Parts: sequence; C-alpha cells; structure tokens
Amino acid sequence: MQEAPVATIREIGKFDGQTVTIRGWLYNLRESGKLLFPIFRDGSGIIQGVLFKKNVSPELFDLVKNLTQESSVIVTGNVRAEQRAPGGYEMDVSNLEVVQAVPVDEPYPITPKEHGIEFLMEHRHLWVRSQRQAAILRIRAEIVRAAHDFFDNQGFTLTEPPILTPAACEGTSTLFPVDYFGDPAFLTQSGQLYIEATAMALGKVYSFGPTFRAEKSKTRRHLTEFWMVEPEVAFAELDDIMKLGEEFITFIVKRVLERRRAELATIERDVTKLEKIDTPFPRISYDEAVQMLQDGHAKGELENRFEWGGDLGSPDETYISAKFDRPVMIHRYPVEVKAFYMEPDPNNSKVALCVDVLAPEGYGEIIGGSQRMGSYEKLLARIHEHNLPEDSFKWYLDLRKFGGVPHSGFGMGIERAVAWICGLDHVRETIPFARTLHRIYP
Ligand code: 4AD
Ligand code: MG
Repeated sequence: MQEAPVATIREIGKFDGQTVTIRGWLYNLRESGKLLFPIFRDGSGIIQGVLFKKNVSPELFDLVKNLTQESSVIVTGNVRAEQRAPGGYEMDVSNLEVVQAVPVDEPYPITPKEHGIEFLMEHRHLWVRSQRQAAILRIRAEIVRAAHDFFDNQGFTLTEPPILTPAACEGTSTLFPVDYFGDPAFLTQSGQLYIEATAMALGKVYSFGPTFRAEKSKTRRHLTEFWMVEPEVAFAELDDIMKLGEEFITFIVKRVLERRRAELATIERDVTKLEKIDTPFPRISYDEAVQMLQDGHAKGELENRFEWGGDLGSPDETYISAKFDRPVMIHRYPVEVKAFYMEPDPNNSKVALCVDVLAPEGYGEIIGGSQRMGSYEKLLARIHEHNLPEDSFKWYLDLRKFGGVPHSGFGMGIERAVAWICGLDHVRETIPFARTLHRIYP
C-alpha cells in the first residue's frame, strides 16, 4: 500500500478528495449510535473525523471509541469538503495509530467544562492547547512580527540591550536584584538607556526584549516579566515620536486584521472596534486631561477629584480613553511623576516632553515615551535628585558630552497591546507563561 502524504490541517483543503495523514491530538470525541466524530487538532487547526461502524474494522472503531482526550495520534483518511464543518473539511478515518494514550485513570485535567482561572493558570502548560489560547498566541506572534517589520522597513537597526544591568532605568522601587559574582546587579526594566547609545551610533534603532519590574501590584495590566519594543531616534523630538507611535500602532492593528481574521473570530473579538483605528490619534495635554477628569468628577462620573500633579490611575485612564474610539495621546505630564531622563518642556519646566498612549476600550497605557534630557549638567543633577549612583551612569552621561543631539523614543509593552487587540480582560493570557506577583509556576 502506498503511504499517504502528511498534511497539516490548515492546508488540508489542498487534498480534497485524497487520502492524507495528519499528526496531532484528540481534541474531543462525540458519539452518536453507530457513528464516531473525533475532532483532531495539530496546532495548525482542527478537523472533524468521521467513522461509520459498518465502513471500518471493529478494531479501528473500538480504538477510536475508547480514545482519551489529548492522546497523541497519527490519523489517515480521505478528505472531503463539508460546508458545515468548522474548517470546511471532514476526514473519513481509515487508520489511526496512537502515539501516546492519555491514561484512563488519569484523564487530561482540562475538560470542556468550565474551570476557574487559578486552576487554568496552574495548568498553563496544558491550557495553551485550547483553541482560544492558541489563537491568542498566534495573534501575539503576528504582533511581534509586525513590530519588527514596521521598524525594519523604515531603516531602523535592531540593537539588543543587556538584560543584566548595574542600575535602574524606571525607578528604584521595582528592581529585581541579582547577585553578579558578589556585586549587586539588576534585571533590566527597559532597554532605553542602552539604545540611546546605539542611536548615537546608528541613527534609528530599536530593541525588542524581555524587561522586568518587581511590581507589587495585582492589577489586570501588570506582569513582572514582559516584552517591550522600544525605538530610539537621533534628532527626533517629542512630536516626531508621537507621529511614529500612532503610525506604529495603526500598522500593527491593520496587520492583525489582515492576517489573523480567523483567530480574531475564534476569540470572538469585536473587530469593528479595531477597524476604526487609524491616524491621526487625538492628542491632549496633561493639563487638558486634568480638566476632563475634574469635569467628570463634577458630573458625578468619577469618584475622586483629580488634582494637578498626580499620576493618572487606572480609573482615570479608563475614563479618558472611553471618550475616544482611537488610542489617545496624553503629553506633557508633571516632571515629578515621570522618569529622571526626560527633557523638561522649554515653555514650562514643570512638565516633561513625554507622551503616554492610552488604548481604547479601557485598556490603559500601552506606550510610554519621551524626548530625552539633552544637557549634561541638568541630567547629572537629576541623577543626584533621584538618588541614582552616579558611577553607574558615567557612560550614559558621556552621551551628552560627545556629540549629544536631541533624541526621543518610546516603549510599547507587547502584552498590553495583545490584551487590547484581542479584547482580553487580563494580561496573563497574552504571554505563554505569565509571571505575576504570586505566580512563577509553571
Ligand atoms: O512607561 P514605561 O515604564 O516606559 C519605559 O520603560 C521607557 N523606558 C520606554 C522608552 O521610552 N523607551 O513602559 C513602557 C510600556 C508601558 O506603556 C506598558 O505598555 C509596558 O511598557 N509596561 C508593562 N507591561 C506589563 N506589565 C508591566 N508591569 C509594565 N510596565 C510597563
Ligand atoms: Mg509609563
């Protein structure tokens, strides 16, 4: 007998009317009298198999009938177009080989019934096999690829900053310490300071890597380990990177809509909201944002009265972003609530030349960026004010001594972007294995 060609389920349509072999897992099994309907998945998609008792051997019928969920299998059968089937095709199973059977007395822990989130997170290594989780991870991968494409196509050079660093970038309260051969070191909070150096070498650069924050917060938006994409551009000012940011986000959303419609449908995302995303994004100053929040409080829509000088909290961000159907850019926050490296506004030294981009639908900040402090003296003073160790920043100060130029950049957290684009209510589902305040397993 000639061996059937091996196919992936995603491409099974090319084999309509032919006998093929697929390799995967039993996702589900339905039985209806003399008929068996096993659903197989192989990572690329799912397909329903059909076995009619009188058409197959008793051995094969019994083997499939007793197959346990998530047993790994190699299945051969004839592919047939079937409009009512999920992927448009069905397979008349003629042979099935079990690679590894899930034991009957220790069944696969995640069943089609509902499970609590804690249980699912504890079984994340298995949960990723579900159609919904797999779709989210595919969309995440598409967003990551789109981010690389966007910058690569515009003449940016990818430069990787170190992950082990001697000092803080985004405040000393969220550092993860590491023992570096007896010396203190930390996991990086952001690649920014290092790509400021490579931007002076290469002009337009970006980094894309894991970043760490020892955030003691248990919110829907915070991870302790997350992936950030950060562009940094020599001779760019705040307005330039605001423009870059809106073009970047729009590019990513359009790419996902173009290539991941099926996955967006699987997770039941309302795509009409994403289809509205286009440039330009509304821009409001922090001062204007404060006014909106105070008006909201006066109208009884917000519990607390927001005072000028504070950082926006989640309810504030949600309130403002709900007023727009595109991401909104809030610029020029008070210097006090922002990082040490930001350039003050020459027209008002109380505020920094910075921007936060808030996603629509209450997803909060997805981008944080700024123009960087240009003056050596002012930067040194800031380092002292923030009680940062001057020694560890000597190299960073050098960048203001040896041909300093205005430069700006931003960082986008991939997980926040995925949560918004997928419409998920928590970032823990946006990354294969989330690290949060109380979770480092599996
Ligand atoms: O606003 P942040 O702290 O900015 C920086 O780190 C700058 N150095 C970036 C730069 O200018 N190159 O963080 C940037 C983005 C946030 O907007 C958010 O999307 C994400 O990183 N982020 C987090 N995502 C998940 N969990 C956390 N704990 C995050 N903290 C920040
Ligand atoms: Mg921020």
